[in-house]
Amino acid sequence: MKTIDSKSCDDNSKFSFNTANRETAESILSRYPEGWKISAVLPLLHLAQKQNGGWLSKDAMEHVAVILNVHPMRVYEVASFYTMFHLSSVGKHVVQICRTASCWLNGAGQLTELCKKKFDINLNETSSNGLFTIQEVECLGACRNAPVVQINDDYYENLDGRSLEKVLDQIVADFVPDYSTNNSNKSSGFNK
Ligand code: FES
Repeated sequence: MKTIDSKSCDDNSKFSFNTANRETAESILSRYPEGWKISAVLPLLHLAQKQNGGWLSKDAMEHVAVILNVHPMRVYEVASFYTMFHLSSVGKHVVQICRTASCWLNGAGQLTELCKKKFDINLNETSSNGLFTIQEVECLGACRNAPVVQINDDYYENLDGRSLEKVLDQIVADFVPDYSTNNSNKSSGFNK
């Protein structure tokens, strides 16, 4: 279970949307009818997380609660449920390895071990250069192309140790990796 980073509770720097994101937040809210603004909680949390350097501080979640005019608990419970929201600071690239059945049976465990060894960290830790945080998550919904890893907003499918290592090395070198299904017009997957 995820918990709110207690350090962020002592942070005096209050979070609020910058001008551009305030306009984006207003545009998001305008899509929802009066009485149903709480439904904007997911896109607003995404916006807050992006502005806050990739994670949601307590202040950031409270700001969203104020905008939605709901008790902060309504926002905390959403943010703590979904693995795409991070409640403590993370590296520049969050590597989320699916550990559910299809991926596990197709080698997800080895991918996790590879990442741990490559970055010399354990799960939910960030590499010393601040570049990578590794996490295990439940089904990413692309089981047909298991094993699957999500890195920030992109999916990488049909991976093995060699192809994942290549993706990670390309990210370190600031290249756009070859194997993201999001970067391809092909249906999906990396042909090993
Ligand atoms: S089991 Fe990994 S994507 Fe579904």
